Amino acid sequence: MTIEYLTLQPSGDKMPLVGFGCWKVDPKDAPETIYNAIKTGYRLIDSAANYKNEEGIGKGIQMAIKDGLVRRQDLFVTTKLWSTYHKKEHVRKALEKQLEQLQLDYVDMFLVHFPLPLKYVPIEAKYPPGWYQPGEDVITLDRAPMHECWAAIEDCVRAGLTRNIGVSNFNVQLLMDMLTYANIRPSLLQVELHPYLQQEHLVRWAQQQGIAVTAYSSFGPTSFVSTGSRRAKNVQPLFENPTIMDIAAKYNRQPSEVALRWSLERNVAVVPKSLNVDRMKMNLQALDWKMDEEDVQAINGLDMGLRFNDPMVNAQKLPIFY
Ligand SMILES: NC(=O)c1ccc[n+]([C@@H]2O[C@H](COP(=O)([O-])OP(=O)(O)OC[C@H]3O[C@@H](n4cnc5c(N)ncnc54)[C@H](OP(=O)(O)O)[C@@H]3O)[C@@H](O)[C@H]2O)c1
Repeated sequence: MTIEYLTLQPSGDKMPLVGFGCWKVDPKDAPETIYNAIKTGYRLIDSAANYKNEEGIGKGIQMAIKDGLVRRQDLFVTTKLWSTYHKKEHVRKALEKQLEQLQLDYVDMFLVHFPLPLKYVPIEAKYPPGWYQPGEDVITLDRAPMHECWAAIEDCVRAGLTRNIGVSNFNVQLLMDMLTYANIRPSLLQVELHPYLQQEHLVRWAQQQGIAVTAYSSFGPTSFVSTGSRRAKNVQPLFENPTIMDIAAKYNRQPSEVALRWSLERNVAVVPKSLNVDRMKMNLQALDWKMDEEDVQAINGLDMGLRFNDPMVNAQKLPIFY
């Protein structure tokens, strides 16, 4: 398996085009799952404080290093700043806590998870805190301007705690604004992208600015059925879509491989998650083949603008994408 990379600006670091996603990996399964992912050939681990499993991920990484599967410098570890830590005085402490859990001296990429400042919850009170104040079930926003948050994130680069910085779930307006004040430009944008939500203008514009793009939830509704999402349950499963199935048959591939390959054809990185070693392997094989332009175009025709990771329809009722 040859790993392919995107070159990040401004660091020049190489980020693997296919990584391993860690959302919904049970904390107790995380060490073995991450170990298996690294053994399978993954070199990018996509983590976040809010996935509530960074301690287990850290153990898995350390097991793999100890067994000689990889060296730290062979791995590209991404993590994300949770929304309760947007105030400038909390950013570095939050990252230091994550590094402690991951058992790392630095991460390769630190992303703002959502453009959404939530009221601070002290690490000692509850970690990771999730969306709400302890004991509450309503959202409380905080006055934490993104330009101050970003300046504190830039300081984390200068302190050697992260090699690259970027954003997730941002739109063009937020990025345009960020480019007016950033001293270190964001090198990556991670957003929900799949054949049912293609966000073509956002992807193309970011890439034109030299900002690399990672797709999350490449399998569309697949990952959201288990969260109880009505949108995910009501739509045709991506893997049963006739266009996807026909293209899979043409190349003697699985529909999941078609979904991943379509992203790579747009120069967009992917971070599929699987607990199953055979599916982990299959997902890495997206690197092994090419798709004809006519098939890319056919998949481009499936766009419905259908978003599954939407805090408006989830319990939070936050219209951040509207
Ligand atoms: N930045 C953000 O806000 C954000 C939001 C969501 C996700 N993410 C990142 O993106 C990663 C991927 O997204 P995701 O976890 O939502 O979902 P995903 O990778 O699109 O889909 C995962 C689902 O597909 C199944 N699956 C995996 N490989 C398969 C295959 N080859 N054939 C059939 N089924 C397969 C998995 O089940 P099994 O495990 O049983 O194989 C799981 O149910 C996350 O883990 C996370 O790292 C980021």
